[in-house]
Amino acid sequence: MEPIKVGLLGFGTVGSGTFTVLRRNQEEIKRRAGRGIEIARIAVRNPAKALAVLGEAASTVQLGSDFEAVTDDPAIDIVAEMIGGTGIARELVLRAISNGKHVVTANKALLAVHGTEIFAAARDKGVMVAFEAAVAGGIPIIKALREGLTANRIQSIAGIINGTTNYILSEMRERGLDFATALAGAQALGYAEADPTFDIEGVDAAHKLTIMSAIAFGIPMQFDRAYVEGISKLASIDIKYAEDLGYRIKLLGITRRTERGIELRVHPTLISAKRLLASVEGAMNAVEVHGDAVGTTLYYGKGAGAEPTASAVVADLVDVTRLHTADPGHRVPHLAFQPQSLADTPVLPIEEVTSGYYLRLRVADVTGVLADITRILAEAGISIDALLQKEAEQIADNGETDVVIITHDTLEKNVNAAIARIEALSTVVSNVTKLRIEAHA
Ligand code: NDP
Ligand code: HSE
Repeated sequence: MEPIKVGLLGFGTVGSGTFTVLRRNQEEIKRRAGRGIEIARIAVRNPAKALAVLGEAASTVQLGSDFEAVTDDPAIDIVAEMIGGTGIARELVLRAISNGKHVVTANKALLAVHGTEIFAAARDKGVMVAFEAAVAGGIPIIKALREGLTANRIQSIAGIINGTTNYILSEMRERGLDFATALAGAQALGYAEADPTFDIEGVDAAHKLTIMSAIAFGIPMQFDRAYVEGISKLASIDIKYAEDLGYRIKLLGITRRTERGIELRVHPTLISAKRLLASVEGAMNAVEVHGDAVGTTLYYGKGAGAEPTASAVVADLVDVTRLHTADPGHRVPHLAFQPQSLADTPVLPIEEVTSGYYLRLRVADVTGVLADITRILAEAGISIDALLQKEAEQIADNGETDVVIITHDTLEKNVNAAIARIEALSTVVSNVTKLRIEAHA
């Protein structure tokens, strides 16, 4: 049988990684897919740059700078979009679909923001849009959620799903690097997005969480409802205090089904140092999924980088190759649930989320200050799990100390109200730093 023909759009970290893995393992992949998979065309802005990467393999592909020549080529069966972003990538993906091509993409931003439009267009044309690489790099988490766990009513997902920020947090904690040096390292290793703000501010993780939440709970993509907080404002003193208290701080994406709606949030989070998630370091990712039948499952692996991501892209190419002649009605739906069965369960605003909290504040050395704080918390119905008074290292002789309070689960709006009252106390000399704690298994 003729090999299936793939057109690659973009040839950066992921595009070139995909080419390399497919070429290196082509015999094995052919035995699995039932026919060869051939990258027949590549479109890039700068063909000279791609030529240098392709080397002698350049003779096996048609390389050019006309992206539409690829999406419109009748000989191309699958278009692999490896550009990124929501601009030209969206246009080319929709164009490929309208030309009846199957699409493989690693672009989580595109799907989290325009997934509804793209999947509807793909349904109309009876083509597949596969996106395993869009979430957690090489970890087959989309496959697990859509197929492996399909018997379950999923209750929650908590994941370290951004390699760049996990790498930065690890380098800062383990090697004492400053934020900028650690970020530069992640960029040099090809982990960071074209705009690293997306990584640092939690946006990339929120894109991935939005996709997982839609698949897990059968709801439409709702990136605009996600609560997003990154690590740029995280103080190293909090990493230290958290460690003293037996926690690690990770940028966690959490989505959970509750009686009142779906939680969808990304923020720096304290997790017990004893939990497996806490020991996920560097650019590694891990996703913990809790289903009613299976209980807790954990998926761990490389979340970024050329070949780990290519592993997922090539898996999608194999899937599409196997299924492209199947009746579209018998394929796994893009979001796991049949499109007409998506639920309208609301996504909860962050004020309605329940969590444990880490609160840090600096107080004057005055009798009764702790009593005032604990009274305010008690009046707000907030139960204290631990309270520590730390000698603030950088404070000289004035006796001011840092106070760290760990609360039991409580409603975020109640914590916010209590914080406002605490900050109004004349004996409290700093704002209150608030971090959430993930205590659920
Ligand atoms: P790169 O920046 O390494 O490569 C992007 C490619 O697309 C380059 O060939 C680039 O050309 C081209 N490109 C960028 N912007 C445009 C544009 N406006 N018009 C035409 N071509 C353009 O990105 P990655 O390979 O890292 O990422 C690709 C996708 O994969 C993104 O969606 C990303 O989020 C996703 N992803 C990345 C992972 C990683 O570890 N890097 C992991 C998982 C997903 P040029 O070289 O000329 O700039
Ligand atoms: N910038 C992303 C990360 C790439 O650091 O995780 C993988 O999606």
